[in-house]
Amino acid sequence: MADSKASLSIDGNVVADLPILKGSAGNDVIDIRTLGGAGYFTYDPGFLATASCESEITFIDGDKGVLQHRGYPIDSLAKQADYLEVCYILLNGSAPTKAQYDEFTKIITNHTMVHEKLVHFFHGFLPDAHPMAMLCGVVGALSSFYHSDLDINEPDQRMRSAHRLIAKMPTIAAMAYKYSIGQPFVYPRNDLSYAENFLHMLFSVPAEEYVVSPTVARAMDRIFTLHADHEQNASTSTVRLAGSSGANPYACIAAGVASLWGPAHGGANEACLTMLEEIGSLDRVDEYVAKAKDKSDSFRLMGFGHRVYKNFDPRATVMRETCHEVLSELGIKDPLLDVAMALEKVALEDPYFIEKKLYPNVDFYSGIILKAIGIPTNMFTVIFAMSRTVGWIAHWDEMLGQPGQKIGRPRQKYTGEIDREFVPLSDR
Ligand code: CMC
Repeated sequence: MADSKASLSIDGNVVADLPILKGSAGNDVIDIRTLGGAGYFTYDPGFLATASCESEITFIDGDKGVLQHRGYPIDSLAKQADYLEVCYILLNGSAPTKAQYDEFTKIITNHTMVHEKLVHFFHGFLPDAHPMAMLCGVVGALSSFYHSDLDINEPDQRMRSAHRLIAKMPTIAAMAYKYSIGQPFVYPRNDLSYAENFLHMLFSVPAEEYVVSPTVARAMDRIFTLHADHEQNASTSTVRLAGSSGANPYACIAAGVASLWGPAHGGANEACLTMLEEIGSLDRVDEYVAKAKDKSDSFRLMGFGHRVYKNFDPRATVMRETCHEVLSELGIKDPLLDVAMALEKVALEDPYFIEKKLYPNVDFYSGIILKAIGIPTNMFTVIFAMSRTVGWIAHWDEMLGQPGQKIGRPRQKYTGEIDREFVPLSDR
């Protein structure tokens, strides 16, 4: 329903009257769907000003540093809910009752094991394969295990796929890690919480019992929660686009994993640690800050800046607190963490970063926490992917449940050759 209209005039002539639609919060959107009929497309590489869909899941106000899932502020969710409750909220729209929460937890817990045949997929990878490569392949392969539940037009089947994915991602992620270090796979334990179980599958070995530290489990749960969803980011948009053609959920989530892998997106936490290792010691921090500011140098401070948050990243605020809590509670001493803290200080005080509104983002702090609790760097993005799976699948489910859902098909501004005469090879 249009609330008002925008007129597009070109050289003084009105070529289109475009409805302006209001959401419940955020910028109004100009509905340009009829513009193609007037002979125009809009041009917006990188989607800087394009709303690609209508969604009720997550709201972000980047200028004010607001992030809400289904209307609940991220700060409250991170501090007062656990990850599975946030998953329930993202998937179902509202906070659960205690009975609904228990039932949901039970369903997820009962789906944590993977088919034994899936184990064989791992043996096809070289031991030094990146765990994101394994995750990408193995998640996509889940499509071949659930033929009876792949009717994307059936809401119940969609929800079962969602539950399976949330439950099995940690198992698959931990298997990728165990495979890469040559240890046996560890089966999930249903008596542990979601975060505890993941740590158990990562760190326990058959030879001795692994006791999960409550501080570490809490930090891990918070990392999951703070990465659970983030509106129409690159990987979520990828999942939506893949799903818009009717592709099955496991294939779509594999596409999301692939998109997340890049260093400008989920790969930033790993890239941040690699950068800290490259900087190496406190006396080199200034040199790297200078490199980041140098226009002729392509180097960027990984873990700084964000496409939508131009004031502060509300997830980073909570993550920063957790980061300092974990470092002091575990009493960890690591020169790289000192470098990180020095970098944070310099960047928060340096006019270049202040003017460009470049603040440490969630991945800066999550990388430091993960390093402090002994998670290898190449698992950082895997953990992000696990956490974001619920967001991806909630968006996929929302899109498929909307009436009149269409395959995604952007247009282009063509700049290539036109109407060339083709001369056969024999005459050239
Ligand atoms: N270090 C130094 N300069 C930077 C940085 C940085 N990390 N990020 C942006 N800039 C500068 C950039 O050079 C540009 O300067 P100028 O205006 O003089 O040309 C200006 O700031 C704007 O940069 P942009 O690339 O146009 O901004 P964007 O909104 O398109 O990019 C970003 C956002 C996150 C890709 C970028 O800030 C970046 O590459 N950051 C490092 C990677 C990173 O930490 N990514 C994780 C994002 S949070 C997790 C997630 O959502 O996946």
